[in-house]
Amino acid sequence: MNILVTGAAGYIGSHTCVELLNNGYDVISLDNYSNSSPKSLERVEEITSKSIKKYECDLRDVEGIEKIFEENKIDAVIHFAGLKAVGESCKIPFTYYENNVSGTVNLCQVMAKMGCKKLVFSSSATVYGGNDIPYVETFKTGVEISSPYGRTKFMIEEILKDAAVSDNEWKISLLRYFNPIGAHPSGKIGEDPRGIPNNLMPYISQVAIGKLKELSVFGDDYETKDGTCVRDYIHVCDLARGHLLALERLQKDECEGVEMYNLGAGKGYSVLEVISAFEKASGKTVNRKFAPRREGDLPEFYADAKKAKEYLGFETELGIDKMCEDTWRWQQNNPKGYE
Ligand code: NAD
Ligand code: UD1
Repeated sequence: MNILVTGAAGYIGSHTCVELLNNGYDVISLDNYSNSSPKSLERVEEITSKSIKKYECDLRDVEGIEKIFEENKIDAVIHFAGLKAVGESCKIPFTYYENNVSGTVNLCQVMAKMGCKKLVFSSSATVYGGNDIPYVETFKTGVEISSPYGRTKFMIEEILKDAAVSDNEWKISLLRYFNPIGAHPSGKIGEDPRGIPNNLMPYISQVAIGKLKELSVFGDDYETKDGTCVRDYIHVCDLARGHLLALERLQKDECEGVEMYNLGAGKGYSVLEVISAFEKASGKTVNRKFAPRREGDLPEFYADAKKAKEYLGFETELGIDKMCEDTWRWQQNNPKGYE
């Protein structure tokens, strides 16, 4: 079975490719490498001893997408490609809407034309916006989203719902990720942010290895267990497995139009808890200081993980210690990422 993976060379895409190849799927990758390196796909091939058919293509290039569908019989698409930096999206919103929203519309139009209507989409817990926790899939979305990035995810979800209303052949799974961290246990693939990382885990691991001086812990006066923000961290390999389960449900025709699922562990860790788990896993001290709150941060959110368990049979298996151990292995083996 041929699966087109957009954004395959990225952090979550590459881990999902491993899972797909290890489970007998054939992978066709589409990526413009704007935020990744083709080396990640070579590493995926090394890990799995299987090959990937690779296309360097931008989702804003409709003819490029068509060519891939003409040259291959695609059974389903897992769509990761998109820009994801929250702060950057506030500075260049048009670029985000064009890349993420128009790119997805282009992809779907080609899929419809070619008769391929099974899609798994990377959404985000950010679509919930508010602070009523845990987040349940039935919550109203799009109300208090704090960035253009988050709004692209909300808009794409709405567009995909419209697609399913217009044509009942569409089977779409919207996967709302919580906070993916960790790396493949081989230490060969992992998160490779460009420049100074915005997200907590890559920042911590770069401090631990001595690349960055110290971590700023944003806020120590939240109403949480220790005053720092609480998030629902999910190991990227668990997350990758969630995509396979969603895909299987689409293939079995069990999916009714559009379905949405939280992919999270269903429990939260504070920033200080993550730091101490990382120190334990790495044996290193993570220098840190308290800093003012970061604009747009919510004090605490985590998933209600029941729906994914009931319909996809998905449950996380890998805990915070393993997330930190695997991140550290990747960081030590690849201090400069894929460079
Ligand atoms: P990533 O940046 O590592 O991967 C995205 C990939 O898409 C990159 O390889 C990039 O080169 C490619 N890409 C971007 N725009 C493209 C375009 N127009 N055409 C072709 N390729 C393009 O990001 P990731 O962390 O792997 O995230 C994957 C998806 O999951 C994204 O859509 C992201 O918004 C979403 N998501 C990520 C997180 C997270 O914490 N990492 C959380 C929630 C949702
Ligand atoms: C952010 C985005 C979210 C996106 C996700 C993954 C916001 C409001 N949300 O989630 O939309 O899907 O990244 O890309 O930006 N922290 C520090 N110091 C740091 C970095 C982070 O203390 O240097 C804290 C943050 O305040 C937060 C926690 O660590 O409480 C996790 O931060 P981060 O990894 O950036 O993820 P989110 O903010 O949850």
